[in-house]
Amino acid sequence: MAVKEELIKLFEKNRGRYLSGEEIAESLGCTRGAVWKAVTNLREEGYKISAVTKKGYRLDSADMLSAAGVEKYLSHSCGVSLTVYKETDSTNIRLRELAVQGAPEGTVVIAGMQTGGKGRLGRKFFSPSDTGLYMSILLRPEMTAADAVRITTAAAVAVAEAAEKISGRMTDIKWVNDVYTDGRKICGILTEASFSLENGGLDYAVCGIGINVYEPDGGFPEEIRDIAGAVLDAPAEDARNRLAALVLEGFMRYYRELSENSFLPGYRSRLLWRGEDINIIRGDDIVPAKLIDTDERCRLMVRYEDGREDTISSGEISIRKRSL
Ligand code: BTN
Repeated sequence: MAVKEELIKLFEKNRGRYLSGEEIAESLGCTRGAVWKAVTNLREEGYKISAVTKKGYRLDSADMLSAAGVEKYLSHSCGVSLTVYKETDSTNIRLRELAVQGAPEGTVVIAGMQTGGKGRLGRKFFSPSDTGLYMSILLRPEMTAADAVRITTAAAVAVAEAAEKISGRMTDIKWVNDVYTDGRKICGILTEASFSLENGGLDYAVCGIGINVYEPDGGFPEEIRDIAGAVLDAPAEDARNRLAALVLEGFMRYYRELSENSFLPGYRSRLLWRGEDINIIRGDDIVPAKLIDTDERCRLMVRYEDGREDTISSGEISIRKRSL
């Protein structure tokens, strides 16, 4: 591991405390010159590190994403292995590359910014720097395509619970996998899967989770301003590292228990717009209906205006609340 990464680890272990150059050099087994160079590099990457004569260096950034910062809150049993990028095109793309190279289940890629964040239905996912958490988890489950939707819905519950813990605010889940707070979307999830041509089963799945932790400077872009929200109103100490760890812990537990559907009560109790009038949108086709519930396979149960009832799988569909 490079001195820079080792130094972040050391800072994370000693948050709020000054470490002298000598102390750092001794712990990392390098020269004081190498310490100074690593501090300079980290500052260039955006880390706020104060230096005080006779005291040494201290990490001041309140909320800086790092592998060591997330690992600090993870239990050993979580079973994940992390890589954190300051910036990448898309964590789903990065992780798919690793999947093809044979990376094991539990490999996780996190980024502080995405230049080509991918959303559902071919949309882009707004992924600005330092205010969001963009994360993808590699899974190699033995399941059919139809069952794979439960990966996404379990992830939605893990995010909802983690966001509630961090913010103290209630969350809702908009079918099939958007997490909302106070009527605004704080998280979107895109699971991409690869199927084996030999047996038609799932080869791997990449579960990509994008969370707006804070509102970016200048607000959200015009096109999502009316729907986008954030988990927190103001920067909080270590919030993104804590949030990432809570999501990973929660998700991996639900994933291991997927055959028992242990995430389902948490999903159904948060279902947004139950009993309300919605529009079902499939491309240009908009069909009015009443949202009844979801079933045990997270399919949407609706009643159309002519009284017919239907159960819909996620596919290429989205729903909107109908204003009268
Ligand atoms: C949606 O709301 O349409 C789904 C958005 C999913 C965004 C996440 S961010 C991490 C991962 N990498 C991507 O490129 N997309 C997903």
